[in-house]
Amino acid sequence: MGLPWDFHPVQGERVTLDLLRDADLEALHEMQSDPAVCRYLLYEPRSLEQVREALRRDAAATRLASAGDFIQPAIRERDGTFLGTMYFTIASVEDTGEIGWIMLPRHHRKGYAREAAALVLDLAFGELGLHRVFAELDPRNAASVALCRSLGMRHEGHFVEHMWLKDEWTDTGHFAILEREWRARGSESR
Ligand SMILES: CC(C)(COP(=O)(O)OP(=O)(O)OC[C@H]1O[C@@H](n2cnc3c(N)ncnc32)[C@H](O)[C@@H]1OP(=O)(O)O)[C@@H](O)C(=O)NCCC(=O)NCCS
Repeated sequence: MGLPWDFHPVQGERVTLDLLRDADLEALHEMQSDPAVCRYLLYEPRSLEQVREALRRDAAATRLASAGDFIQPAIRERDGTFLGTMYFTIASVEDTGEIGWIMLPRHHRKGYAREAAALVLDLAFGELGLHRVFAELDPRNAASVALCRSLGMRHEGHFVEHMWLKDEWTDTGHFAILEREWRARGSESR
């Protein structure tokens, strides 16, 4: 247990977390080029070439050892269908990680992101041995806020006009959960 950690697929009840592969390009492009999906992301809708480049980078990110290392696995249905991506990075603060998520719109509201995020929290507090996981988001992003709350993440901060993004000063919300809190939720967290 602990770092360094090398990627291996993680299987949930309905979804699997698996490395991105070349065959995901079309679905990944559909997702990352969609203005509605990107509305509250740090990047603008991506071109096919930009997505190809991101796929190459993210598929090669397989080891978590120190601050800044990240994984961006695909979320798949059991039959391999691409649903979205999870993001997880080791933060600069000791024993802390940051989590994020993006789903293809046609798979929204089916509980897939929640299940995938629960797998990542299990991983973070289990195999990785971390103490705290946080998520940062635009507080206007109702779906992402709801997902944090559904996972039992606590709203710990609201930074007003925290960054200049997409032609406006944007607030940032900070949600977090501790290892002991995640464990205490037990089966409620699945
Ligand atoms: C955020 C996102 C990943 C949620 O994915 P999803 O698969 O639809 O989420 P789930 O179906 O697992 O739902 C999780 C919870 O959020 C709630 N929820 C989802 N979308 C919601 C919405 N638009 N408004 C209110 N609640 C919402 C669900 O009801 C569920 O709550 P429950 O567990 O208490 O029943 C998805 O909306 C998305 O990809 N958005 C665009 C990308 C993005 O903004 N990513 C986050 C950047 S910080």
